[in-house]
Amino acid sequence: MLDVNAARKDFPILKREMAGGRPLVYLDNSATTQKPQQVIDAMSSYYRTSNSNVHRSAHTLAEEATIGFEESREKIRNWFGAGESRVVFTSGTTEAINLVAQSWAKVNLNEGDVVVLTEMEHHADIVPWQMLTSEIGVELRWVPFDLETFELDMGAYEVAVQGASLVGAVHTSNVLGVRNPVEQMVELAHQAGAKVLIDAAQAAPHDRIGFDSLGADFLALSAHKMGGPTGIGVLLINEVAFQQMQPFMGGGDMIREVHFDYSTYQENEHRFEAGTPRIAEAIGWGAAIDWLAKWNVESIHEHGLELARFTADSLRSIPGMRVFGRQADGDGAVVSFLHDTMHANDLAVMLDAQGFAVRTGHHCAQPLLRRFDIAATNRASFWLYNTLEEASAFVEATRDICQRYS
Ligand code: ALA
Repeated sequence: MLDVNAARKDFPILKREMAGGRPLVYLDNSATTQKPQQVIDAMSSYYRTSNSNVHRSAHTLAEEATIGFEESREKIRNWFGAGESRVVFTSGTTEAINLVAQSWAKVNLNEGDVVVLTEMEHHADIVPWQMLTSEIGVELRWVPFDLETFELDMGAYEVAVQGASLVGAVHTSNVLGVRNPVEQMVELAHQAGAKVLIDAAQAAPHDRIGFDSLGADFLALSAHKMGGPTGIGVLLINEVAFQQMQPFMGGGDMIREVHFDYSTYQENEHRFEAGTPRIAEAIGWGAAIDWLAKWNVESIHEHGLELARFTADSLRSIPGMRVFGRQADGDGAVVSFLHDTMHANDLAVMLDAQGFAVRTGHHCAQPLLRRFDIAATNRASFWLYNTLEEASAFVEATRDICQRYS
């Protein structure tokens, strides 16, 4: 059982008063989670006591910074079950996916090679592949989902992967909260000879992902959606795919030797981490993982899903309200909704005036929203510090606003 009150105590921002002295009810966790004091302290302590560059100088601070940075890589490797694989730091999920496009796909694919994507993808897993259609002429195939059940059409998927070189698939949709059958998707893609890239940005905060056991070739995620800082993420890469990649960014730290006429590169993960890395961010992410390890991730998942189910069911009882997603076992703690006469932005502004922070807009998934013939939704998304009281107050505020103004 998750001790929500104990968890809440670690988040100083949750004590903040909003307009009119109302408490903050933060329901925008799919955009970014709040940060526990332990993460804030770890980053502050690094800057106060050990700030230095890594992998370079032979002084105490440099040694401490390097140890802190590389220890965080190992924490991430362990947390995501990537002991047999490579952990390359990036600026976040978006850069991790672009790294696959630039350093693997551009090197290994040719004109006419097929990349399969789902219609649930975030823009970060769409635009880099569209860029490759113009750069090297790859072909994109789209796997649809059912507008009533919100489930991927696995029959269409099985057909689409035949002859494909790569599948890019979101683990858990940031709009619908739907968890896709990634294990089956990896298996089918591999049977067809395609590599698989999983966007796990939304899964990381509430799922224990075992990268090596999942068997995907690439997995991208960000720190800031799991209590860590913004500006850092990773690409997990299996060894075979890693050996097929070439760096697309050159510079310091990624080289072994540089001559006027040629350079040689590092053989480990540093090969893809040109320039000074995000040192404080890596250390902060390590602290977030230490902090998360105090809680039971299955309980975090169950708690979020309970709040999402309550919220989705309650919102459905508001006249004119449409709720997207199914909140099934395994799904993310996400509820997207849209009132048929209340503009999503107006609703969000009125909720904000009462202290409720929700996301509004296309959620960087315009093609998905177009399938429903809509341009925006509101979205409430939960994490371990949200309470049933908050969810209930949020639903009642939404009901009241819709009754008054729609
Ligand atoms: N992609 C993030 C979201 O869903 C930012 O809000």
